[in-house]
Amino acid sequence: MPIRPATDADLPAIAGIYADEVRTGIATFDLEPRSIELWRDRLASTEGGDHLLVAELDGQVVGYASSSAYRPKAGYRHTRETTIYLAPEAQGQGLGRQMYDDLLGRLVADGVHLALAAVALPNPGSLALHRSCGFEDVGVMRAVGRKFEQWIDVLWLQRLLVR
Ligand SMILES: CC(C)(COP(=O)(O)OP(=O)(O)OC[C@H]1O[C@@H](n2cnc3c(N)ncnc32)[C@H](O)[C@@H]1OP(=O)(O)O)[C@@H](O)C(=O)NCCC(=O)NCCS
Repeated sequence: MPIRPATDADLPAIAGIYADEVRTGIATFDLEPRSIELWRDRLASTEGGDHLLVAELDGQVVGYASSSAYRPKAGYRHTRETTIYLAPEAQGQGLGRQMYDDLLGRLVADGVHLALAAVALPNPGSLALHRSCGFEDVGVMRAVGRKFEQWIDVLWLQRLLVR
């Protein structure tokens, strides 16, 4: 399965995959889909450690994985927050693992010190993926988000990449 850096032509597919989760899932706390311009800004980032990767299945973009700044303050510059979204039909086939291995390899090559991930609970698939990729649990923020009229906990995970 080809995994490659995203291009401008991939942005509608990326935006569509994310929009589905915005509307139907709790993996993101966005309540409205993101505009293509926001995705274009993400793609245009030249910060070291920022990546936007896509995976193709039968020539269609079926998922993306990204890394971006955890917080804007300069002291956090060696840390990246990672995330991944696959279309429902592409889940559960090992593609998430392949994409994350690719992304984490790029972060190591960039000299990124720490990868962080925030997983809204419950999400057994995402927890399994992160733990399988070497992330360790950090702790749970209780009732930090609200979506679909429910308070939602978030578990943070981290993986040390480069000392
Ligand atoms: C979470 C997600 C990225 C996982 O990707 P995936 O391709 O389905 O996962 P994989 O098939 O690569 O499986 C990775 C590991 O998780 C396990 N796993 C996957 N789904 C699982 C589930 N529902 N329950 C338990 N374990 C699961 C696999 O067995 C595998 O374990 P292993 O590496 O020890 O063999 C994908 O399901 C998804 O996009 N979900 C919707 C969006 C989302 O939740 N994104 C995460 C935001 S934090």
